[in-house]
Amino acid sequence: MSPGQDPTPVGERAVSGSPDLERVPVRADLADVEPYGAPQLDVPVRLNTNETATPPPPGYLEEVARRIQALELNRYPDRPHRALRAALAARHGVSPERIWAANGSNEVLLQLLQVYGGPGRLALSPRPGYSMYPELCRTALTGHVEVDLDDDFRLTPEAAGAAVAQHDPDLVIVPSPNNPVGTPVDRDVIRAMHGAGHALIVVDEAYVEFGPDEASVVGLVEELPRLVVVRTFSKAFRLAGLRLGYLVGPTWVVDDVQKVRLPYHLDALTQVAGEVALEQEEAFLSHRAEVAAERDRLASAMSGLAGIEVFPSAANFLLVRSDVDGLFERLLARDVLVRDFSTRPRLAGCVRVTIGTRQENDAFLHALEAVIHDAKEHT
Ligand SMILES: Cc1ncc(COP(=O)(O)O)c(C=O)c1O
Repeated sequence: MSPGQDPTPVGERAVSGSPDLERVPVRADLADVEPYGAPQLDVPVRLNTNETATPPPPGYLEEVARRIQALELNRYPDRPHRALRAALAARHGVSPERIWAANGSNEVLLQLLQVYGGPGRLALSPRPGYSMYPELCRTALTGHVEVDLDDDFRLTPEAAGAAVAQHDPDLVIVPSPNNPVGTPVDRDVIRAMHGAGHALIVVDEAYVEFGPDEASVVGLVEELPRLVVVRTFSKAFRLAGLRLGYLVGPTWVVDDVQKVRLPYHLDALTQVAGEVALEQEEAFLSHRAEVAAERDRLASAMSGLAGIEVFPSAANFLLVRSDVDGLFERLLARDVLVRDFSTRPRLAGCVRVTIGTRQENDAFLHALEAVIHDAKEHT
């Protein structure tokens, strides 16, 4: 044994007391990262994650239960999920080769960033915008830059085109309607961004079903060769527990995402549950008018309250600005959970409230009125 050599075989070296060997340090860029996610608190009124408050239509779970009896769960699922893609293709009037589904639209977005982003590449998205975009970019080692919406929380075609020309991103990700502000994005904005550079233009239509049918830009995928539209079953389709999202886009995008997908990323139960939901689409989406009516009722009730500003929304939530300090905590103290945006750039004093059932919306309104009343008493 040469001097200084450790006589203990490598596999038997004691690790206790040696902090360097007790755990593996995370990637440097993750060291200070807090795991992302809205609080899942057990409170009576939960209006913080933009789900639909009413369950799937009657008969849905029974039909899924019947259909999964036929599955061979000892076998891997159909990797290219052909039946589900065919049903989605029929829904949008495109060929199945233009469709790709994954575990929620978040996974679809991550796959797009993994394929077209990566070291040295850049994604651009609006600010305010969906808080997962920077997280997904970081995970996919992709640079991220934001373009500010104007004072009405909108983008003009000129500003959108100029931002793309200036930053020359590889991907542009635009939520339409925007989360958290609720504004839709005009087609001319999408065209301007597409025309101003070489980027893949990803329009995230997570909430589009809550607006008019013509708000979707799915119809533009034939016209704009680098356009991808991302959809989810988590919002208007009332299936947030399922984890199913998909894209409609060029066939080469569907080919390219195969390079990063896990071998059997979409399980057989989810595939079947999605197929059955599409067969029952009309029943699934029948609540939309009610959600829109409740959204408008809530907006007009709030606009009459002192110190409250409500932003117009085409989605199933409203962004609300208030001059009451600690609005989020004060509502929570009254058993109403909303989403706090007050520390986000340009959203000082803001919370976002999901449209719930009529009773939940009333509970929110009463809590808000009480909070405003209390705050006034103490000033
Ligand atoms: C704009 C936007 N895109 C995507 C998602 C993620 O949806 P999914 O549940 O399909 O992953 C959300 C969820 O809140 C969202 O607000």
